[in-house]
Amino acid sequence: LWTPSQIVDDAVRQIRDQVGTDKVLLGLSGGVDSSVTAALLHKAIGDQLTCVFVDNGLLRLHEGDQVMDMFAKSMGVKVIRADAEDLFLDRLKGVSDPEQKRKVIGNTFIEVFDAEATRIEDVNWLAQGTIYPDVIESAAAKTGKAQVIKSHHNVGGLPETMRMKLVEPLRELFKDEVRRIGLELGLPYDMVYRHPFPGPGLGVRILGEVKKPYADILRRADAIFLEELHRADWYHKTSQAFAVFLPVKSVGVVGDGRRYEYVIALRAVETIDFMTARWAHLPYELLETVSNRIINEISGVSRVTYDVSSKPPATIEWE
Ligand code: XMP
Repeated sequence: LWTPSQIVDDAVRQIRDQVGTDKVLLGLSGGVDSSVTAALLHKAIGDQLTCVFVDNGLLRLHEGDQVMDMFAKSMGVKVIRADAEDLFLDRLKGVSDPEQKRKVIGNTFIEVFDAEATRIEDVNWLAQGTIYPDVIESAAAKTGKAQVIKSHHNVGGLPETMRMKLVEPLRELFKDEVRRIGLELGLPYDMVYRHPFPGPGLGVRILGEVKKPYADILRRADAIFLEELHRADWYHKTSQAFAVFLPVKSVGVVGDGRRYEYVIALRAVETIDFMTARWAHLPYELLETVSNRIINEISGVSRVTYDVSSKPPATIEWE
């Protein structure tokens, strides 16, 4: 049986053998797989690695800064941050169909990533955080949403970067092994054991058309929910938890005044494989705290609901 440190040593050796003194490009999302890939490549080849982090404006509160702080500042990884919020929001104008939104976000990602990639000279390797279950999944040629997920996570299809050779150091590892080597490489526990976050980000958690003020409200509501889950020691008892923005208005009262504002839905699930899921039976006190804080602290929200739908038939995401 291999220990995390042996897996790391072995991967480092293989990466060096494979790429030699060549330059490598990696799309860093801040998710577990790309983060561990970045840390591993950095250990193996240092400055030969350049990461491109695309900030699509659909990330969680402070997420972009956190990614930059961790990789660029603390670890000294070369990271280019592409601030593309305006472009993504512009492309999403008038688009309200979920699959269409995924397509727009995926295509815009490719465009931005590719533009950054072409500016870096002499890169001939593209790194990807493909893990073993991804290999299996692609081989099984899934249909429906799963295929869409693949389509914009697979940066191998990028026009410019298509001519690059692929380096996939996590290709033979399962998720728990990836997490363990992430810890071995010095990544913080909270980042390595973070809930999954969809590629299209808040784009599929704002129902219908995506607008900047909606995203700003949602980010704050989501941050309150996650903060209280951590505080109550419930975060790691759930598999995924997040807030959803519903662009419908509901009446409320504050003092003598009447509010007519938006609705936030909270979703928390327990699951092993994300194919089926049960809604998490969070304590009422916790839900009460989260609801009060969201309504009191965020102007623009007058009502909070909790999603008690199982998968199937309800998917984990609302779109
Ligand atoms: P659903 O909503 O299908 O979600 O029950 C199952 C898991 O997949 C994630 N998900 C996505 N991940 N791009 C992604 O990278 C997507 O378009 C996407 N849609 C859903 C979801 O967050 C959950 O973990």
